Amino acid sequence: MLPNVLQPSATDHIPVLADEVRESLAVQPGMTVIDATFGAGGHTGILAAALNGRGKVIAIDRDPTARTYFERFEKQTGVQARLLRGDFGVVLPQLAANGSRADAILLDLGVSSMQLDRPERGFSYSVDAPLDMRMDTSQDLTASEIVNGWTERDLVTIFRRYGEERYARQIARAIVRRRKEQPFERTGELVDTIKNAIPAPARFGEGHPAKRVFQALRIAVNDELGSLEAALPAALEMLRPGGRLAVISFHSLEDRMVKQFLREKERGCTCPPDFPICVCGQEPELRAIERRPVKPSAAELAANPRSASARLRAAVKT
Ligand SMILES: C[S@@+](CC[C@H](N)C(=O)[O-])C[C@H]1O[C@@H](n2cnc3c(N)ncnc32)[C@H](O)[C@@H]1O
Repeated sequence: MLPNVLQPSATDHIPVLADEVRESLAVQPGMTVIDATFGAGGHTGILAAALNGRGKVIAIDRDPTARTYFERFEKQTGVQARLLRGDFGVVLPQLAANGSRADAILLDLGVSSMQLDRPERGFSYSVDAPLDMRMDTSQDLTASEIVNGWTERDLVTIFRRYGEERYARQIARAIVRRRKEQPFERTGELVDTIKNAIPAPARFGEGHPAKRVFQALRIAVNDELGSLEAALPAALEMLRPGGRLAVISFHSLEDRMVKQFLREKERGCTCPPDFPICVCGQEPELRAIERRPVKPSAAELAANPRSASARLRAAVKT
């Protein structure tokens, strides 16, 4: 007898928009499911239950700690599954090039609660910890290298582009001034420098003053947008006709990229709008399941405030 869902422990990541993901991907027995962001396996467990013992699961995660959760998942579901450790921006194109095909692909972007809540990973601005922020702990680039080594101009660019930080210039200047005296080692030192660099009224309201810089650093350390850009076309290539893709994003930069990709693949034709007839001959490849992104319900927001910025977009391969 297969359990309906995995039984998560109290400290695990809570899968966001779980019902909506299940409905969007409409997994049936016999299908191949790819969860490209396995995490604690919450979504994978829900999707695997719909296989009813027949089908295959491919789980991907770049964080080595995902292995423990994967072993528990395998034990509890007994479904045919394998875990590929790596960046989905590399693994999905490799699978596509090897001719692997899938019926349902999920990307639940960003970091998990296990990553956020483990202070030593350095993702959180609310606990003092080493400046790390790597999802893949074997990778070389850390937040410390960026903060201590990148030029002021590069810091301004990532704070603006990835954090949409209004005070990017002031913060970058303060970082460079401080690191000349003493390099940054801890998240707490960076938080203090950010707080001191912005005007006093901006320290209150609009969330924590370090939130946007931390988001920018995390995106840069993990090249999150580069991975997504490489993953989306590979996911589309791997889907069988009628197969479904679902992407949950947590900030506007990711959501914009997903939205534009789906629009482009829905439209097909890439001819300039003033061309009287189509000369490119490209056909639509995807059909969006919902026009607008799906957001968490009030009940989900109350139960899991971390779901607040989640946006789900899903599409069917035509
Ligand atoms: C939001 S969590 C997913 C949680 C999961 N859906 C669950 O229910 O437990 C995102 C996970 O994706 C992983 N991840 C993020 N970007 C990745 C990438 N480019 N390649 C592989 N894994 C990635 C993170 O390490 C993290 O474990």
